[in-house]
Amino acid sequence: MKYFDQMKEKTALLKKKKDIIVLALESSCDETSAAVVKNGREVMSNIIASQIDIHKVYGGVVPEIASRNHVLVINDVIERALDQASLSKKDLDGVAVTFGPGLVGALLVGVSAAKALAFGLSLPLIGVHHIEGHISANYIEYPDLEPPFVCLVVSGGHTQIIHVKDYGKYELIGQTRDDAAGEAYDKVARVLGLGYPGGPAVDRIAKKGNPKAVDFPRVQLKDNPYDFSFSGLKTAVINHLHNLEQKGESYIMEDIAASFQEAVVDVLVEKTIKATEMLGQKRIVMAGGVAANSSLRMRMEVETQKRGIMMYYPSPILCTDNAAMIGSAGYYRLMQGKISPLTLNAVPYIDFTS
Ligand code: KG4
Ligand code: ZN
Repeated sequence: MKYFDQMKEKTALLKKKKDIIVLALESSCDETSAAVVKNGREVMSNIIASQIDIHKVYGGVVPEIASRNHVLVINDVIERALDQASLSKKDLDGVAVTFGPGLVGALLVGVSAAKALAFGLSLPLIGVHHIEGHISANYIEYPDLEPPFVCLVVSGGHTQIIHVKDYGKYELIGQTRDDAAGEAYDKVARVLGLGYPGGPAVDRIAKKGNPKAVDFPRVQLKDNPYDFSFSGLKTAVINHLHNLEQKGESYIMEDIAASFQEAVVDVLVEKTIKATEMLGQKRIVMAGGVAANSSLRMRMEVETQKRGIMMYYPSPILCTDNAAMIGSAGYYRLMQGKISPLTLNAVPYIDFTS
């Protein structure tokens, strides 16, 4: 019998098993990560080898360098994940991996490693969409959280409002037409000379600034009130700084950072709450790197409390890229029999709800 048919049979039998152990890999950008996750919610290990220091000198991620470093460390990261979980390969029930979206060369490293493990160990292979992983980070953080809910996904590449109707059932409500929120943070950080990654640096200095110092634009889009646009805001910040420089005027960096952040947080919170009320939902979940932002968390907390909406977000380590979230999403796919063939490929751009 061919591998895929064998795995279909094996997967069907997993329903009778008490504990399901998934090894997960994530290599879509500049973090090489492997995790062992039990029953989709319990993290037995979550090893993250970050390449931030390597890419810092270039002011952003260099795809070729990222791929080469994933190749260098991935086997070690996998071994460490198994060691920390005190498990061996024979204890595993499936291998989950991010197959997209992301940097294609970087993704291919994780996908190839996962295929080799799955084939070699006769285990089901589970291709996971990176954004489904980010959302699932909340299932780890909140063991009792169940769909339905509204999720605001805010990462370096995505800004989306998603109606999570059930496990694996998603409806896209709104998304950015241009830059993602994290991308805007990174670009503004670069012009402020704060380096890479920009989000945490802007977050840090914004705490000391006046958010009302500059009234940056909050873009509203007439045809879809739940869509976002951040490129105008980014340009407004750059133009503002250029104007001041041309006039030889100085500025307070903390005020610029705080005012930019205020504009981002205003639209993210307003649109997510509007979408939640429109859908008649009572829970907002946040996911992705920007969900670690202190101002976004605080404001969302205040605004949801006023309206009797429950609020959820993962701890910072589960907001940014990690394999544990892929292990959680992978578990739910495995339980639904949604496994992948060995022809699984890396896909750099792929709609989440497609
Ligand atoms: O989810 P993530 O780790 O990777 C992607 O899938 O893109 O998100 C990375 C993004 C970067 O743009 C980074 O600057 C941003 O998340 N980020 C933050 C914060 N921490 C990370 N943005 C604002 N405030 C933060 N505290
Ligand atoms: Zn991510």
